[in-house]
Amino acid sequence: MSAQETLSIFGAGTMGHSIAVSAAWVGNAVKVWGNDSEDIHRAQNGVREKLTVLRRYEAIRAEDEAKILSNIQFSLSKKDVLEGATFVIEAIPEILSLKQEFFKELDAVCSRNVILASNTSGLSPTQIAKFTNHPERTVVTHFWNPAHLIPLVEVVRGQHTSDATVERSLTLLLSMNKKPIVVKKDVLGSVGNRLQYALFREAQYIYEQGVASIADIDAAVQYSLGRRLPVTGPFLTADMGGLDVFHSISHYLFPDLSTAQSSLDEMKHLVDNGNYGQKTGKGFYEWSLEFSERMNQERERELINWLKRDMQMSDESKGNS
Ligand SMILES: NC(=O)c1ccc[n+]([C@@H]2O[C@H](COP(=O)([O-])OP(=O)(O)OC[C@H]3O[C@@H](n4cnc5c(N)ncnc54)[C@H](O)[C@@H]3O)[C@@H](O)[C@H]2O)c1
Repeated sequence: MSAQETLSIFGAGTMGHSIAVSAAWVGNAVKVWGNDSEDIHRAQNGVREKLTVLRRYEAIRAEDEAKILSNIQFSLSKKDVLEGATFVIEAIPEILSLKQEFFKELDAVCSRNVILASNTSGLSPTQIAKFTNHPERTVVTHFWNPAHLIPLVEVVRGQHTSDATVERSLTLLLSMNKKPIVVKKDVLGSVGNRLQYALFREAQYIYEQGVASIADIDAAVQYSLGRRLPVTGPFLTADMGGLDVFHSISHYLFPDLSTAQSSLDEMKHLVDNGNYGQKTGKGFYEWSLEFSERMNQERERELINWLKRDMQMSDESKGNS
C-alpha cells in the first residue's frame, strides 16, 4: 500500500474484514472498528478462515499468513482506530441515515486531509456526505464481495468530491493490487451493477419465455461470454468481433430484449416464498450442503487462481520494466 496512507476501516462485517485482508496482504498495518466484541470475534475468525483458504490454494505462504494476521488490529474504540488514520473506509450497514450520521461524526473529528470513503453498495455519495463540512474529501470506494479476491473497486465521485480525493483513492487502491475504476457520475448501480443486472434481467426473461432452462442459461454464460469477459470487456469484444457485425446485431436484437421494470415472475415467486437461494437451501437451484460446499470451493479456487495469475503478470511486468 502507499506509504502515504494509513488506513482505518469502520465496520468489521462481511466487507470490513475482507477489505482489511486486502490491505494487510500487501504489508500494511490496518485498524478495524467493530461495534461489539462478538462482531470483532466473528471478524477475526473470518480473517483466519480467509487466510487458511489462501494458503490451501498457495496464494500465500505460512510466514505471510502470520504477517497478515499481525497487520490487522481490531478495536471497539473509534478513537483508537482513528489515531493516525489518513484514509478511512466506512463499511457499516446500508442505511443512509446511519452512514450520514457516521460521516458527520468522522468529519467533525478528522483533520481536513483525511479521506472519508464509503463502501456503500448503491447509496449516493453526495447524500452520504450531506451533513459534512468538507464533502470534497468524501468519496465512495465500492469493493466487491469477497473484497480480498475481487480486484475491481469502483471509485464513485459525489457532487463535491475533489480530484485530489479521487487521485488519492486510486493510488491507495492500486497499491492494494486492486483494479480501480472511476465512476464520474453519481448514478444508481454505478457501472458494475448496471452491467450485472442488465444480464440478470435478460437471463430471467429468456427463462420465462421458455427459451432455455436455468442450467442451460447459466452454461451459455459460463462457457461463452464468461470465458471471454475476463480478457475482453464489452467494448474490446465488439472491436475484436467487428463493429459492423455488432451494429447490425444490435439493430435487430435490441428491440427484442427485456425492458422489465422489476424482477420477473419466477424470481418474485421464489422470494415471496422465502426461497432466497444458497442461504435458505432453495432458489433457482436446490442447495444441498454438498452442492453448497462444492460451489463455494469452486468459486473460491477460481477467484484465487485469477488473483495468482494477476500477481504473476504484475511481477513479470515489474521485471520487464
Ligand atoms: N456484502 C456484500 O456483498 C457487499 C458488497 C459490496 C458493498 N457492500 C456494502 O458494504 C457495507 C457493509 O456491508 P456488509 O455486508 O459488510 O455488512 P455486515 O452487516 O456484514 O457488517 C456491517 C458491520 O457494521 C457494523 N455495524 C453493525 N451495526 C451497526 C450500527 N448500527 N452502527 C454502526 N455500525 C454497525 C459492524 O461492525 C458490522 O459487522 C454496506 O454499505 C453494504 O451495502 C456489501
